[in-house]
Amino acid sequence: MEVKELISLAIEVMDYSYSPYSNFKVGACLLTKDGRTFKGANIENSSYGLSMCAERNATFQAYCSGVKKEEIEAICIVAKCNRPVSPCGACRQVLSELLPTDAKIILANTDYQYFETTIEKLLPYYFTKDDME
Ligand code: THU
Repeated sequence: MEVKELISLAIEVMDYSYSPYSNFKVGACLLTKDGRTFKGANIENSSYGLSMCAERNATFQAYCSGVKKEEIEAICIVAKCNRPVSPCGACRQVLSELLPTDAKIILANTDYQYFETTIEKLLPYYFTKDDME
């Protein structure tokens, strides 16, 4: 799938963002190696800390549909900002566990400016279950 198409899917789901507190809509779309896509938007709560980011929702959606880590090719995250959106630290940690290390992480804005990165670049020295052994 072309990057632009993946960005378009992530933009589409921004419409379903529930973000009355930040008024900041975020959309994400996870792509599997066999071409399936799973979308997520940010869903907020009046108890702010209970809000959930778009990329975690898209990833959980994929897992809840039976997608396995090794089947994941890419995730695209998009918001209306001057530069491609920067995922929060909590999401970086969650993605470090649920995505393969070689998964493409595409950060984009609604003007289709984007760059491709990896979890190791976004969160070097991330915590893993191996650290608890
Ligand atoms: N947010 C995301 O959903 N993903 C990101 O990558 C950045 C931030 C959401 C969380 C909150 O609902 C709103 O954007 C403002 O922080």
